[in-house]
Amino acid sequence: MSGFNNIVILTGAGISAESGLNTFRASDGLWENHRVEDICTPEALAANRELVLDFYDQRRAALRTVEPNAGHLALARLDREWRGELLIVTQNVDDLHERAGATRLLHMHGELMSALCEECGGRVPFGGAMLDGTVCGQCGAEDRLRPDVVFFGEMPYGMERIEAALAEADLFVSIGTSGAVYPAAGFVQMARHAEIETLELNLERSAGSGWFDETRLGKASQLVPLWVERMLDI
Ligand code: OAD
Repeated sequence: MSGFNNIVILTGAGISAESGLNTFRASDGLWENHRVEDICTPEALAANRELVLDFYDQRRAALRTVEPNAGHLALARLDREWRGELLIVTQNVDDLHERAGATRLLHMHGELMSALCEECGGRVPFGGAMLDGTVCGQCGAEDRLRPDVVFFGEMPYGMERIEAALAEADLFVSIGTSGAVYPAAGFVQMARHAEIETLELNLERSAGSGWFDETRLGKASQLVPLWVERMLDI
């Protein structure tokens, strides 16, 4: 697998599934008993603030009960040992990549452990429960913090950096994502357009599977460590 210098990796809920976090598109079509549209939109936050804050308070609390799995650990090892360029773009709002040790990481859909101030626009570290009341660490506004997660209809974080990384990359790898949500679902097409190699590691074929040069099906905890070993020539 050597011969590559510059890798962009996209991860989704599938890489955290074996840590015990539910994916979004389980067979019942619900995320933790809610329709995604009832929770993950600016309209839902405006109409039903307590429900939305409580939902993300619960997700934040659940993070304390889970640990990174072999997939996160393998990517953190690649991050440590890969001498070329690397960017791990995650759609996940959990903190399992960084707890595994990854640093070349971009949370394009935001982070549960961060809050966004509706008053000053600041992003501040946040580990508690928003329903208990909040004070912005930057501007001091009370009860103006919301989850720092990108809702449907909002612009993902870091798009310019991601597009620049993809334009420079020679390998794009997608791990544990259904390919149902744009713009992340379109990264493989951007990669194909840039004529770089594309690899998918997923439990099942994703919506955009046909765009990849190669698809390997299986669990992230098994596929990712094997792929990383090949990349590092271990
Ligand atoms: P999904 O729930 O849509 O897809 C998860 C993918 O992971 C599916 O294709 C599963 O087959 C696969 N999968 C499940 N278990 C796996 C395992 N152990 N190993 C490998 N693959 C596994 O989650 P995402 O694609 O991440 O956005 O969803 C994308 C976005 O939709 C999320 O970031 C979120 C959601 O709405 C926002 O909240 C803005």
